[in-house]
This record gives sequence, structure tokens and C-alpha cells, in this order.
Amino acid sequence: MKKIIASVGGLAAVAAAAFGLYAYHGEIGPRDAREKPAFDSAVVAKGRELAAAGFCAECHTQPGQAPYAGNYPLDTGFGIIYGSNLTPDPETGIGLWTEAAFNRALKQGVDRKGRNLFPAFPYDHFTKMTDEDVRAVYAYLMSEVKPVRNQVKDSTIPFPLNIRWLQSGWKLLFVDFGTYQPDKGKSDLWNRGAYLVEGVSHCGACHTPRNLLGGEEKSRQFEGAVIDKWIAPALTSANASVVPWTAKDLSGYLKSGVSQYHGVSVGPMGPVVHAGLRKLPDRDVEAIGVYLADKLKTPDFDPAKNPLVQASLATGRTDRTYRDDEGKRLYVTACASCHYNVKEVLPARPDLAINSATRISAPDNLIQVILNGVVSDDGIQGVVMPRFRDALSDQEIAAIVNYLRGQRAQLKPWDDVERKVGEIRKATTTRH
Ligand code: HEC
Ligand code: HEC
Ligand code: HEC
Repeated sequence: MKKIIASVGGLAAVAAAAFGLYAYHGEIGPRDAREKPAFDSAVVAKGRELAAAGFCAECHTQPGQAPYAGNYPLDTGFGIIYGSNLTPDPETGIGLWTEAAFNRALKQGVDRKGRNLFPAFPYDHFTKMTDEDVRAVYAYLMSEVKPVRNQVKDSTIPFPLNIRWLQSGWKLLFVDFGTYQPDKGKSDLWNRGAYLVEGVSHCGACHTPRNLLGGEEKSRQFEGAVIDKWIAPALTSANASVVPWTAKDLSGYLKSGVSQYHGVSVGPMGPVVHAGLRKLPDRDVEAIGVYLADKLKTPDFDPAKNPLVQASLATGRTDRTYRDDEGKRLYVTACASCHYNVKEVLPARPDLAINSATRISAPDNLIQVILNGVVSDDGIQGVVMPRFRDALSDQEIAAIVNYLRGQRAQLKPWDDVERKVGEIRKATTTRH
């Protein structure tokens, strides 16, 4: 018995030593800050595009402050982590980082000093990028971004979760390190889409559900998740659309922010389109559409023949039976003047029987849009939807939501809508 205990003890010691080795990363020495780095302009241009595709500026810029100067607060649920200063300032930014140090941060989640970075920084996706693409982003940040001295605040993650070397355990459990490997059975376009979606654009960071430790559940990739009081819908065959997404619809939506039969890109999806994917070459966005349509596995058919689309057009604005029902009355008087269609569904008049916000698993997105409207730089550029935060009570908004879900979309009602309206009202403000 003693022997077994001793040998188990020995094994544990070996495992602990191995983990120690795994968890240890040395410092990578500074570059000479007096030397101005020189990069080919084509490489810098590619880096600018990739930085947009990775939404780097979103998490590394404080609203209204200098680009990439850091301190954007990210609420992780465990505490707030501040995006780092990615400007080439030598003291508070990445001015002293060599390309090797930058590559290690993106592909292994370790900073220049050798400390583990928290996964609020989606290195678990950036690890899929090629070294050449990482180099392009480095070239862009080092040569086009203005250095700004701005000390980044410490995170508010409580002890012991804030111990950085413990992050090695998280990595061991949840991260598949290594550059994306093309699937030889698929087309080049499909592989390009997969490379962007799984790597730099990290779509799964919002669309894949996470476990209690915050790791993405790989077996449930793209099955939909909750993010900042919004629902990121499923991008699998579980997607709730009545009109199946085609590759063309997807790339159109990801480039313009609107899809005729699905809706507009708002909330966390707004900047994904408008600060990110719009800046990519058309061919890349087309590739993302091809890859996602394959994941969604929906059959192709003529949307105009869809019975729900036909019923919706027949309802139009002429429904005069609204006095029977409070939800319907409020909808007809507050919403239908804009949200009606006659011969066909117009993109700037989202049809609320068909719109994803009415069809997904929870009412969060519908409530968000009614409370806070759609600002002009979300959804269709330059087009707004008014907010109803100050015009309608929680109970009235719940009545509209229940009417749209039950009578228009003809789906099972959501539970507890009024309480949810109250919660989202409290947790949000309007950006108008
Ligand atoms: C979802 C938010 C988010 C996105 C998107 C994001 N980052 Fe970050 N990044 C962070 C956070 C938060 C940290 C700080 C992590 C920590 O303190 O452990 C960080 C840290 C870093 C670091 C380490 C810097 C240092 O001083 O230690 C680098 C380098 C970096 N990010 C580069 C990038 C690049 C390049 C992109 C785009 C391709 C990007 N990030 C996109 C949130 C993000
Ligand atoms: C003055 C016209 C107007 C009124 C009134 C209006 N909307 Fe909208 N609504 C719009 C426009 C325009 C858009 C598309 C906005 C964009 O893309 O910028 C929109 C978008 C939406 C969306 C789409 C969100 C998505 O994710 O696709 C929903 C849901 C919605 N409105 C619900 C409502 C409800 C419910 C009411 C009544 C309480 C209402 N709207 C009243 C004009 C209006
Ligand atoms: C920061 C979080 C976030 C990231 C990153 C993100 N999404 Fe989204 N996405 C959302 C949210 C939230 C919604 C719902 C809001 C809406 O409908 O506008 C959404 C909606 C969508 C929809 C509409 C689905 C439907 O059925 O109506 C598609 C398609 C989509 N995202 C694709 C993508 C792709 C592709 C990527 C990566 C290139 C991506 N998303 C990255 C949060 C995100």
C-alpha cells in the first residue's frame, strides 16, 4: 500500500513538474526602440484588413479615445479586464515588442514578459492564424498606429482567478493550439471561409456556448449563446429562420448589415459587420458565406413561396381588428406604420413575423431593439429605428413582444417577458 502511495505521490510530483514546465514561459528581450521598423506597404495594407477582420480596435480602444490606446473595459462575468495598449509606445504599449513576442501573444496567449494572458483576449482563435498574417498585423500596428502613452488598468478579477500562471490549466483544457489546417475534401473558398471564421474573426467567441469555466463547448460549436444581454443566434441547422439562409444571403448580410428575410446587424453584431467584415475584400466575405451555409445545412427554396412570408404580406397594415388585443393594438399604433410590407418584404422594413429577433430561443434581441432602437451606424447604415424606452412601459413592451411571437410568428410564447424587459431596461442605456 505504502508503495502505491509512494508511486502515486511520485507520479503527482512528475505531473506537477511537467505542468510547471508547461506553464513556464521566459521573457522575450526588447527590440531597439530607436530603430524605426520598415515594412512593405502591401504587408501593412493586409495587416490593416486583418486587424479589421479581428475587431482588434473594438477591444483595444476606449470609446472617444485614441485608437488602440487600451483600457476598453471588458466585463467577463468574473471581473473586468482592460484591453491592452497596442500602440507602439515603448513604455505603456507594444513599442518594445519584437515580431516573435507579438506572434507568441497571438498564437500562445503569453505576453512579452512571459505571463499568461486571459482568454478574454481570443488567442484561442488567433492561434489558427498563419505566421505571415500575424506578421502583417504586427507591421500595421507598428507602422500605422500613432504611439500613445496610456497606462492600462489592472483587472478586477478576484484572487485566486487572477493568478496568471493558473491560466495554463485553462489552456490545457480548452485550447487547440496551432495554425488552421485546410480540409482537403473542401474547396479553396470553403477553406478560406473556415480560416477566417475560426481564426481571426473568432465568430465562435460569441456564437458558441461556453461552459462554467468560460471555455467554448467544442461539441456545440455555433449552437448560439448569450452575450451582453443579447442572443447570438445558432449558426447551425438549429437556426430559427423560416427562410433558410443561403451563402449569398449570409455574405450580403455580413457585408451590408441587413438581410431581407432575417433582419439587421445590431448590438454586438453591429461592429462585427461595420467595423470589421465590411472592410474585407468581397471574395473573403463570400468565402465566409460559403463556409457558414455549409454549417447551417438548410435546404434552398424560393422564399416568396414560404407560407409565413405570404401570410405576413397579406396582413400588411390593413389589419383593423386590433382593438381585441392590447399587444396587437400597441403594435398597430406604434410599429406598423413602418413595419408593414405589401408586395414584397423590403430590407428597410424588417418583417416582424419573419425577423430573427422574433424567432430565436429568447426575447432578448427583440426587447433590446424596442427599448433602445437601432442607431444609424448599426444595421442599415444611415437608417434609424426610434427607441421606445421612454414611450412604453415594461408591461406594454411585453404585450407587443407576446403578440409578435404568438400571433405573428406563430411560435410557442416565451416565459416571463415582462420581468426580462425590466432587467434589460435597467442594464442598458441608449446610444442615441
Ligand atoms: C474580445 C476582445 C478582444 C479582441 C477582439 C482582441 N483583443 Fe487583444 N486583448 C484583449 C484583452 C482583454 C487583453 C488583455 C488580456 C490580459 O490582460 O491578460 C488583450 C491583450 C492583447 C495583447 C497582449 C498585450 C500586452 O501588453 O500584454 C496583444 C498583443 C493583443 N491583445 C493583440 C490583439 C490583436 C492583434 C487583436 C486583433 C487581431 C486583438 N488583440 C483582438 C481583448 C481583445
Ligand atoms: C419610424 C419607423 C419605425 C417604427 C415606428 C418602428 N420601427 Fe422597428 N425598425 C425600423 C427600421 C427602419 C428598422 C431597421 C433599422 C436599421 O437597420 O437601421 C427597424 C428594425 C426593427 C427590428 C429589427 C431588429 C433586427 O435585429 O433585425 C425590430 C425587431 C423592430 N424594428 C421592432 C419594432 C417594434 C416592435 C416597433 C414598435 C414598438 C417598431 N420597431 C417601431 C423602423 C421603425
Ligand atoms: C461580439 C459578439 C459577436 C461576434 C464576434 C460575432 N457575432 Fe454574429 N451575432 C451576434 C449577435 C448578438 C447577433 C444577434 C444580433 C442581431 O441579430 O443583429 C448576431 C447575429 C448574427 C447573424 C444573424 C443570425 C440570424 O439568424 O439572424 C449571423 C449570420 C452572424 N451573427 C454571423 C456571424 C459571423 C459570420 C461572425 C464572425 C465573422 C459573427 N457573427 C461574429 C454576436 C456576435
